[in-house]
Amino acid sequence: MNLGLSYHGPIGVFDSGYGGLTILRRLQALMPQYDYVYLGDNARAPYGTRSFQVVYEFTLQAVRKLFHMGCPLVVLGCNTASAKALRTIQQVDLPRIDASRRVLGIIRPTAECIGQLTQTRHVGIMATPGTIRSNTYALEIAKQYPDIQVSGQACPMWVPLVENGEYDQPGADYFVRKYVDALMCSDPQIDTIILGCTHYPLLLDKIRQAVPAGVQLMSQGDYVARSLEDYLRRHPEMQRRLTQGAQVRYLTTEDPESFKDAAAMFLSHPVVAERIVLG
Ligand code: DGL
Repeated sequence: MNLGLSYHGPIGVFDSGYGGLTILRRLQALMPQYDYVYLGDNARAPYGTRSFQVVYEFTLQAVRKLFHMGCPLVVLGCNTASAKALRTIQQVDLPRIDASRRVLGIIRPTAECIGQLTQTRHVGIMATPGTIRSNTYALEIAKQYPDIQVSGQACPMWVPLVENGEYDQPGADYFVRKYVDALMCSDPQIDTIILGCTHYPLLLDKIRQAVPAGVQLMSQGDYVARSLEDYLRRHPEMQRRLTQGAQVRYLTTEDPESFKDAAAMFLSHPVVAERIVLG
């Protein structure tokens, strides 16, 4: 079935909630010329503790919606969706829906860069329980850098702290330190930690205070943005399909007013959001 709506259109960016705004921000900083549509499934966030099947179904609904809105290309700005849904969508759904469109994730572009950052070849991943359980980071890193040892730490409390605006409050310190200490205890030789959830950049200051000296933190946004820029350079047929009006539309499955307030924490400017229904 070819949707056949619009041949040209914006880049779609999807996340379970607000975290993908940290990716959108970096995409816009590097490629401000393109139009973007951001979709946050806020009514059903968080995804991090949901099953594979549910995350896949929700993500597919979001991708279909963004295709219907004319996006030739959708970036899953969510590690949990990239870990649990991307492969099936690319291999099974895309050929049936519209083989000319593309859905890209954010785990591979992050994993690809890690080899240049670690000296000890011991890397930590901090992410949602779903991303950690999927083992996707370890598998992607092993493909590129079999010599790197990867340890994962699930951080189930971090997304709720961010979604509830508690990320810069003193109460957040306890949970930040708890998960950082657990990770470093599991492998004291770690010298690089991937923040493998798009919500975590908001906790960056607190995480920085909690990690031992000499351990570097890798936030994904810039790596994902550079990887997409490179992808578009290598795929001019896709690049030509992207409209360049420097406009952004924000869609949410929850109340647009709440989205507006919360989005201000992630972006440095106010936004107007529209409510949509998925499913
Ligand atoms: N921001 C999402 C990610 O990168 C996770 C948020 C959630 O648990 O829904 O994994």
